[in-house]
Amino acid sequence: MTPDPGSPADASTITDTTAETARTFDEASESFDELTPLVWGPAGQVLAFRTGIGPGDRVLDVCCGTGASALPAAMAAGPDGRVHAVDIADELLEHGRLVAERRGLKNIDFVCADATTWEPLSDVPEQGYDALTISYGVFFLPHMDRSFGRLVSQVRHGGRVGVTVWRAGAMEEFSDLVFDVVGRWSPRMRDRGSLRHRTPLHRIDTPAALEEWLVAAGTHTVEIGTLSNLLPATEELCWALVTGSGMRGMLAGLDDPQVEEVRQALADEVTARGLHTIDATTLVGTATVLRPPVSG
Ligand SMILES: C[S@@+](CC[C@H](N)C(=O)[O-])C[C@H]1O[C@@H](n2cnc3c(N)ncnc32)[C@H](O)[C@@H]1O
Repeated sequence: MTPDPGSPADASTITDTTAETARTFDEASESFDELTPLVWGPAGQVLAFRTGIGPGDRVLDVCCGTGASALPAAMAAGPDGRVHAVDIADELLEHGRLVAERRGLKNIDFVCADATTWEPLSDVPEQGYDALTISYGVFFLPHMDRSFGRLVSQVRHGGRVGVTVWRAGAMEEFSDLVFDVVGRWSPRMRDRGSLRHRTPLHRIDTPAALEEWLVAAGTHTVEIGTLSNLLPATEELCWALVTGSGMRGMLAGLDDPQVEEVRQALADEVTARGLHTIDATTLVGTATVLRPPVSG
């Protein structure tokens, strides 16, 4: 596994990056749930299931968004369990709170906090959470390895960990196309590079790399599943992918007429390139936490 070149270098850069991520996802909140039925939702369900969350479990779900994996976790944990669903984008959390209320779920707390400094709440047993889940979020965390290791350390020995990440190649053709189109209006975006290049995602986007990374974080019995997901490249879905995900940041600084021009140009480019499907294939990694025995 290669070292992590994508992490910001110092504390002020980290604060800036985290604040920018929060702003991007808050702005994306209007469209974010348009993607839930086809993108976030299926992966979140599979993640909660494969992590093996069961009745009574205490679960930490970070980078929870509107609750794609946290809500199924809460349903699996039942009234005797509890889910702490953590994100820095409060607008997304508000959507999650509304869904939880509509579903009558009283065992989930949506908390606005930075996952890199999270400490278990007082209702978590001393030995730690029973499970940690992170769906499409871990690669946004500054110093991904250290941040993930810190979160894993909050799970008890024998507890479970589950993450989802885009598989190598997934979303690539589409995000390249979006970069090309947005770059016509915003050249600085062309220089920034895609999610894959701006974040450490590329270090964990194959089954072997993800497995090695989970073991290095202090887990064993790793299983990697591949969730195939080929999205139809309709005009509506393409635009929702831009406005309701981390790609939203690409539109920063453009005014409303420019955004409308980008929307039209994107639709034209999708047709011109003959793009019919968008590969959203996802790796689902699960593992069991191994805590070394305390000596003495
Ligand atoms: C692609 S979204 C995935 C959301 C959700 N897990 C899902 O699958 O629908 C990534 C999420 O990570 C959150 N995030 C990024 N950095 C974070 C941090 N340092 N602490 C907490 N949340 C963070 C973003 O605000 C965003 O909601």
